[in-house]
Amino acid sequence: MRILVTGGAGFIGSHTVDAIVASGAGEVSVLDNFSTGKRHQVNPKATLYETDLRDAAAVASVVEKARPEIIFHLAAQMDVRRSVADPVFERTRPYQPLAGEPPSPANPPPGCPFHRRCPRVQDRCRSELPPLTEIAPGRAVACHYPH
Ligand SMILES: NC(=O)c1ccc[n+]([C@@H]2O[C@H](COP(=O)([O-])OP(=O)(O)OC[C@H]3O[C@@H](n4cnc5c(N)ncnc54)[C@H](O)[C@@H]3O)[C@@H](O)[C@H]2O)c1
Ligand code: SF4
Repeated sequence: MRILVTGGAGFIGSHTVDAIVASGAGEVSVLDNFSTGKRHQVNPKATLYETDLRDAAAVASVVEKARPEIIFHLAAQMDVRRSVADPVFERTRPYQPLAGEPPSPANPPPGCPFHRRCPRVQDRCRSELPPLTEIAPGRAVACHYPH
């Protein structure tokens, strides 16, 4: 199994990586910008990507290379005092909450369960459940318009 841990040089992330490596669960990659994390905390068996999470293109590139099946997202600015003293630091881009209604697992809507909040929704999505389709070796998505 391929696993990506963001913040894998930090406190929680590095212990998470160590536990995954020790368990033999699979290949581990770490994404971290070392803003607070430490290089020596990165498990030597992990593949390191020194990348800023806020750089969408760079993150997409890491995901393309690491091809994770599981992502543990632990990269964060976690100093509460800083977030209170300087809240704008955490808002480097405007906050854009997802619009639309989350699907109820007990009573999912017809079609694609995400169609009420997907920005790429088409008519077909409202009535047809997309099948799980392999779009590349080892990568499957359930979406009518995966590209
Ligand atoms: N430490 C705790 O006791 C605790 C308890 C509950 C929840 N948490 C949560 O767990 C998460 C991790 O906390 P932690 O204690 O390991 O913090 P940490 O500061 O030790 O680790 C955060 C890691 O994320 C990296 N990082 C930060 N911003 C980044 C960015 N923009 N791009 C890439 N990497 C970035 C840092 O370099 C660091 O390695 C946080 O969300 C925190 O709120 C921590
Ligand atoms: S099928 Fe794909 S494009 Fe259509 S609503 Fe679902 S996720 Fe969005």
